[in-house]
Amino acid sequence: RPDRSPEALLAQMTLDEKIGQLVQRMGGRQRALNSRLGPDELERVRLGEVGSYLHVAGAEPLRELQRVAVEESRLGIPLLFSMDVVHGYRTIFPVPLGIAASWDPDMARLHARVAAVEASAAGLHWTFAPMVDVARDPRWGRIVEGGGEDPYLGSRMGEAQVYGFQGDDLAACDTIIAGTKHFGAYGAAEGGRDYAEANLSERSLRETFLPPFEAAARAGTASYMTAFNTIGGVPTTANAALLRDLLRGEWGWQGLLLSDWRALEELEAHGVAENRAHAAQLALRAGVDMDMVADVYANELKAALEADPALLPLLDQAVLNVLRVKERLGLFANPYAYHDSAREAAVMLSPEHRAAARTVAERSIVLLKNEGNVLPLAATAGRVALIGSLADDARSAIGSWKAQGQEGEMVTLRAALQAARAEVTYTPAIGPRDEDRAGIAAAVSAARAADVVVLALGEDFDLTGEARSRADLTLPGLQRDLLAAVAATGKPLVVVLMGGRPLAIPEVDDAADAVLATWLLGTESGPAITRVLLGEVNPAGRLPATFPRATGQVPFTYDQMPTGRPADADLSRDSTRYHDLAITPLYAFGHGLSYTSFTYGEARVDRGEVAADGGTVTVTVPVTNSGAVAGDEVVQLYMRDPVASVSRPVMQLRGFARVALQPGETKRVAFTLSPAQFALWGQQGGWVIEPGRIDLMVGASSADIRSRTALTITGTARGTVSPA
Ligand code: IFM
Repeated sequence: RPDRSPEALLAQMTLDEKIGQLVQRMGGRQRALNSRLGPDELERVRLGEVGSYLHVAGAEPLRELQRVAVEESRLGIPLLFSMDVVHGYRTIFPVPLGIAASWDPDMARLHARVAAVEASAAGLHWTFAPMVDVARDPRWGRIVEGGGEDPYLGSRMGEAQVYGFQGDDLAACDTIIAGTKHFGAYGAAEGGRDYAEANLSERSLRETFLPPFEAAARAGTASYMTAFNTIGGVPTTANAALLRDLLRGEWGWQGLLLSDWRALEELEAHGVAENRAHAAQLALRAGVDMDMVADVYANELKAALEADPALLPLLDQAVLNVLRVKERLGLFANPYAYHDSAREAAVMLSPEHRAAARTVAERSIVLLKNEGNVLPLAATAGRVALIGSLADDARSAIGSWKAQGQEGEMVTLRAALQAARAEVTYTPAIGPRDEDRAGIAAAVSAARAADVVVLALGEDFDLTGEARSRADLTLPGLQRDLLAAVAATGKPLVVVLMGGRPLAIPEVDDAADAVLATWLLGTESGPAITRVLLGEVNPAGRLPATFPRATGQVPFTYDQMPTGRPADADLSRDSTRYHDLAITPLYAFGHGLSYTSFTYGEARVDRGEVAADGGTVTVTVPVTNSGAVAGDEVVQLYMRDPVASVSRPVMQLRGFARVALQPGETKRVAFTLSPAQFALWGQQGGWVIEPGRIDLMVGASSADIRSRTALTITGTARGTVSPA
């Protein structure tokens, strides 16, 4: 048999064929699939001018497309098929911010596993997920797609998804490549404006924004996508220091690096490329292997290479990176392994996948407030008025990326609650975009006629996501008026808050007896919320991002730096606080309540001293379910380095565990830490573990610390990986 190794193929390729492997073309318009391509497109495949397609799907049409590549092109190199399968393919899971709210990496992994099984059955090899951009500013619409504000939580959620998508064997026909994105600080877009510059210190880049990317590299992500934006004036897609020196050099990552959509041609708009040919050179030098959709490599690279033959080895390396991923997927051995219509028909939206989606949805719900234990709704609660069009908005249940999610397959809150309780009336009233206040009167009548009101408020699916930044984080539209009118009826009020970002909703907190954050929960959103409302599931999600009191507070994260003038509540001296607003968040990072209560014993470290260059410490804390029903507690471990060579955050998450406890049960929760997790990015660069005291705080949220302990680090050491 002829040698089909990447190296052997490379040796046979013409310059045009090499460039072809670096070209990703679109099968359909963005978000509109078209996998049956026209004759011109098929001719490109025959000529070896395409390495990959995105936004295509379907076992049978993609088998035919693959057949053309394999049987009708000169070298028979298979294509890579890709799509944004971000939170489910056909069975839709909660949006990633919701999954992060489960504080349960197993849920992130489960979701990715199911998504991989479905997407691979539809002929796909590659997803553009997980998005691990740390999002510190909820004005940024893409906060919905990631793990929230914290690098440690984001790292655990991101790596779990890589494991879920890729499994143990990328060549298995039910695993797909994880395309971790958007390397490296897209989430730091200034002012929360999508695509805007990230203006960062090296320390903040290393300590806050890069850790989840590094965790994904350690988990073996086979691909990354570059970010659209610039860091300190350098567009990531042309940033050799970041892409070559750091990602491939320092981290030793080997894989396929893809640009974002037309990001190569945008190098001109960024003002670093004179023209498209220059953009091609910059991107290749920086280490971008594949050009998504811009056709800059397709049309300009040849001339650029002829003008500068020194680029040829870089071209060969990029081609090898693409071919090696195809080889790892097993495509040279069996290019049709992913095109099995019988498997496609069998796996989509299977009962097992629906059950997984419901489990993840239930575990993502956060109980923000529950005054007077109005939740769960008692069996005797009487007539329930369900109000608000979000309660029956199937498109919004799907969330930002839709993949192959079908509206008709979403079970909305209205459908599930009415199926569970006969005495539920539904009044759409108004939704986030309605400008006609007529619905408010209907809502008031419905509330008056009921014993308890469940009011769905928040944002629809299209208010978060790409290019969906908002300057105002209050409830959109007339929803505040709706809230006020319904609250004025005096009926017990439960707000079911939907959407993909933290909102500034002090009026909801004031008016409602109970508030549930339910994000956009996917196919099983209605059953999941209903089971929580009725107490069949005890909510245990926790906030992955701070809810501010007002938009003016953002960016506002829990891990702030100390200041020489800490906040002074009564403003009797100059201090770091607002004159017109409390300095505290509305709901803190890590916050979430339960239908039961938990007590914490004393946190202990097993050794008071640890050498900077070795050993581990174990922190244990007993946690007891002191209430009457079973529930999960999310035990959170924070650290502070009180005196260091540089100022350190007032707290940083370094461990968490979601623990199930029966009433009266106590578990001793243990966290094992290595000194490397206390490292900081030193003034001369590099991770440094410095001597001195480390304070450890264990609690139920960043604002609810229940026990403290400390240890001492002796000596100094250099770290090799990010502490998060
Ligand atoms: O994967 C996405 C990316 O997140 C934003 N631009 C388009 C890509 C492909 O759809």
